[in-house]
Amino acid sequence: MKNANALQYGIICCMKNCEHVAIIMDGNGRWATAQGLPRTAGHMAGSDNVRTIAIAADALGVKYLTLYAFSTENWKRSKEEVGYLMNLPSFFFRKYMKEFLDRGFRIRMIGELDDLPAATAKVLREAEEESKKNSGLSLNIAMNYGSHRELVLAANAYAKDVLEGKAELGIDEAGFEKYLMTKDFPPVDLLIRTSGEERISNYLLWQIAYAELEFVPESWPEFTPEVLKRCLDEYMTRDRRFGGVKQ
Ligand code: FPP
Repeated sequence: MKNANALQYGIICCMKNCEHVAIIMDGNGRWATAQGLPRTAGHMAGSDNVRTIAIAADALGVKYLTLYAFSTENWKRSKEEVGYLMNLPSFFFRKYMKEFLDRGFRIRMIGELDDLPAATAKVLREAEEESKKNSGLSLNIAMNYGSHRELVLAANAYAKDVLEGKAELGIDEAGFEKYLMTKDFPPVDLLIRTSGEERISNYLLWQIAYAELEFVPESWPEFTPEVLKRCLDEYMTRDRRFGGVKQ
């Protein structure tokens, strides 16, 4: 299946060093409005595109794909839009979970699920549970996620461990990472934001310390496997020195 997809997109799988791709899936609302559709239609098209891009990323050799589905700031949106976004995971996993399991995808969540409507949190936890033995693409969905919140929670958890004698004072970076929601993932290699905006919006601030950044004009519903391939090709031309000097 993987090779068939690779052929379909005309892809040569050589992405060994682009293990972790994170995407800020922006522009659903503007895409829908431009077509005379309600914003929610953009979110539905966007959720279908999650499946398309996860399959393409897997075929391209990406191992971790971390997608920003709902931020800690998105609660400011209208009640109708927030309600729609909270119901989307249920539609999404009902439609695609079987296929994800067949493809060996492992679904993982980052964000504060406890503060989501109980039904939404349940669907997300079930997707994690059902796929936990899979070792294929790690499809990570950020839901009620904000990087500042993640760092504050990590600092508090560390302080609590120190007070309880479970941790020593003076941990290093690797020690601190164990308190992050992304503790099981490698650092982000490539961060992509769609729809022309050029900001990070409180996403994975620790994890993108040395990521390559790409801002593409396409909205998320228009972000095709070919555009992903273009981003990965661009990534391959970048010279990553991680603060060092080229030898
Ligand atoms: C931000 O841009 C996008 C969001 C707040 C939602 C993104 C959600 C999805 C793509 C659905 C994912 C769902 C699942 C369950 C995997 P915007 O769409 O508000 O765009 P705008 O800037 O044009 O208004």
